[in-house]
Amino acid sequence: MAGPADKDDRRRPATKLVQGGRRPEWTGDPRLGGGIVNPPVWRASTILYDSIADLKARGHATHDKLYYGRRGTPTVWALADALTELEPGAEGTLLYPSGVAAISAGLLALLAPGDHLLMVDSAYEPTRSFCDGMLARFGVRTSYYDPCVGARIADLIEPETRLIFLESPGSLTFEVQDVPAITRIARERGVVTMLDNTWATPLLFPAIAHGIDVTMMSLTKYVGGHSDAMMGSLTATRSLWPRLRQATYQLGHSVSPDDCALMLRGLRTLDVRLERHGANALAVARWLAARPEVGRILYPALADDPGHALWTRDFSGASGLFGFTLKGADDAARARFIDALTLFGIGFSWGGFESLVVPSDPRTIRTATDWTDPDALLRLSIGLEDPADLIADLERGFAALGGAS
Ligand SMILES: Cc1ncc(COP(=O)(O)O)c(C=O)c1O
Repeated sequence: MAGPADKDDRRRPATKLVQGGRRPEWTGDPRLGGGIVNPPVWRASTILYDSIADLKARGHATHDKLYYGRRGTPTVWALADALTELEPGAEGTLLYPSGVAAISAGLLALLAPGDHLLMVDSAYEPTRSFCDGMLARFGVRTSYYDPCVGARIADLIEPETRLIFLESPGSLTFEVQDVPAITRIARERGVVTMLDNTWATPLLFPAIAHGIDVTMMSLTKYVGGHSDAMMGSLTATRSLWPRLRQATYQLGHSVSPDDCALMLRGLRTLDVRLERHGANALAVARWLAARPEVGRILYPALADDPGHALWTRDFSGASGLFGFTLKGADDAARARFIDALTLFGIGFSWGGFESLVVPSDPRTIRTATDWTDPDALLRLSIGLEDPADLIADLERGFAALGGAS
C-alpha cells in the first residue's frame, strides 16, 4: 500500500505526522485549481478502465495505482504511507480491519506447517488464542517465553523456530522486553521478529530501527485516539514486505476508506495526545504510589519499576496505559473500587481521549511464567482529562474500599 520511505528523510516525527500521506496526486485535482488539506474519502469497489489495453497494463499495477477496491484507494494508501514514514527503515505498511486481524495475517504469512513460534508470555490474550487455536491446527507449534528473557532467548531457539513475537511493554503486566538483545540474536540465527508496538507507537519506540522485522499496531488505540473506529497495521522491512503483501491479498483483507480518514485525522494529533496521555498517567501513577492501599504499580515510566532501565534506554516516552494492584483486595473489593469511579468508563480497549478502567487477571492467562502476586490487579487507560479530576475520582474508589461488601 505504501512505497518505500525516502531514505534521506530528516524530518522529525511530529512533522511527518502532519505531512504524511498528503501527496498532491491524492489530495487535489489540478483541474479544480487546488489541493485539499487531507486526502478525501475515495470510496470504490469497481475501477473503470479506458480500454482492454489499459486493463491488461493495470493487471501488473503496483499498490498505489487504482485496480480494484480491495487493493485500496488514495485514502487507504495515504494512511499506509503516513505510517511507513514513521518507521525509518520500513518498506511499507498493510492495513487490516482490526489489530487482531493484523496479528493473525502476519503470523499466517510468515509461518508454515512444521514451524515453531516463540511467543511472549505477556502477549495480549487473543494473540495467544490464535496461536493455540488456528496456528496449532495448521501445524505450527507455539512455545511461550518469559518476557524478561533478554539474550537468553538464544537457548530457546530450536532448529524449526521461524519467528519470535514480542509485545513490549506487555499490555496487561507491562514488562519491558530487551528488544535489541532479542533482535540481534534472532538475526544471527535467521529468525524473524514481530512486535506488537501498540503501547508505544513508533513515536515512542521506532521498532524497525531497533531491529524488528515486522511491527504491528492496533490503530484502534492511540492512532485512532477517539474510540470510534477499529483497524490494525503491519509495517515491514523490505525482505518481508512481498510475503506480507501477497498473504494479505490472498486473505482478502480490506479496510474502509471512511475509517482510514478517521485514522488519518487521529494520526495528525498523535504526538500532542501521547505527550498529554503520558504526563497525565505519570501524575496519576505517582499519586497512586503514595497511597497505602496500593501494592504495586506496573508502569515502566516510574523509577522503581523493574523495566525502567530498559525503558529509559530504548523509549522516548510513555503512553497512558498502566496497571496497579490493590493490597489485600479480593474481587469484590476491586469491584467496589471500580464501581465507585465516575470519570473512568468500565470498558475494553484503550488509547482513546477518555479514561477507562478494567480488572485484569494475568494468573489465568500465563503458562511460561507464574503470576504470583495475590493482590487484585486493575488496568487504567489514562485519558486527556485534567489529572486532578482523575485523582479526585480515584479517591472515591479508595473510599469505597472501606465499605462493607
Ligand atoms: C496490545 C494489544 N494488541 C492488539 C490488540 C487488538 O486490537 P483490536 O482491538 O484493534 O483488534 C489489543 C486490543 O486491546 C491490544 O491491547
